[in-house]
Amino acid sequence: MTLLGAVQAGPLGRLSADWMRILFSLINFSVSCGYNNMKHTMDVSGGKRGYFITLEGIDGTGKSTQAQLLARSLVSRGHTVCSTREPGGTLIGSRLREVLLHPDSRDMVPVTELLLFLADRVQHLTQVIRPALARGEVVLCDRYHDATLAYQQYARGLDMTPLKDFLGAEIDSTPPDITFWLDMPLEQSMARMALRDKRLGQTNGGDEGRLETEREGFMARVQAGYRELAQLHPDRILRVDAAQPAEAVAGELLTALATRMPGF
Ligand code: TMP
Repeated sequence: MTLLGAVQAGPLGRLSADWMRILFSLINFSVSCGYNNMKHTMDVSGGKRGYFITLEGIDGTGKSTQAQLLARSLVSRGHTVCSTREPGGTLIGSRLREVLLHPDSRDMVPVTELLLFLADRVQHLTQVIRPALARGEVVLCDRYHDATLAYQQYARGLDMTPLKDFLGAEIDSTPPDITFWLDMPLEQSMARMALRDKRLGQTNGGDEGRLETEREGFMARVQAGYRELAQLHPDRILRVDAAQPAEAVAGELLTALATRMPGF
């Protein structure tokens, strides 16, 4: 069955007008603003400051799929979307991503890892995120600073307080307007990761990436980190049940944006 057929036949079939729009945008548009590709559509922002959306969650929760679905449905509503990710949203960031995720980096010490993620972020903020917001675009970023807080601070136990003054100027000054925390039972995300690793093992010679080989215990700590962050920032961070079918998750994100995002 085609994707279109599956959606029409599914429980969301009654939302067909919205979904047809999303599906046509899936077929017709490709949006990317960070390193790799650049393509924009009509700007309906009227020159106002843009809107900053981030997607977060432990590995294997379907963030990248949701980022694509959301970008395309926003484009279909006439927004200019800067679709990007961390690490790797700039040319320099893509080099840093390679270093961070390469299996040869397994001996990287936690402080080095933290500094590389932060270096990627500062570069990304300067070259991609702030300029896009200044142009009035919707910036849709697959992972951002909450990832560093959940992975490096909470899960690895690194104290980021000494970096606070410096980061205050560089990073804290550009908080997301809304963060979707995609959450699902750990066993489910671990099973998805195992499937993905198996698939990559067939096509990629077993090269699954350094961080993605982290153990379940580490992911449990990351998840606890996100839970704590969501409690600390209830107005900004929205927990979304990512165990639902992808179309239902995408629908929840749109519903949340409908009441929060100016000009949605
Ligand atoms: P991705 O494959 O979801 O893009 O993420 C790459 C990995 O990097 C993922 O395991 C999460 C991790 N990560 C951190 O540990 N700290 C960070 O600040 C970011 C942005 C990602």
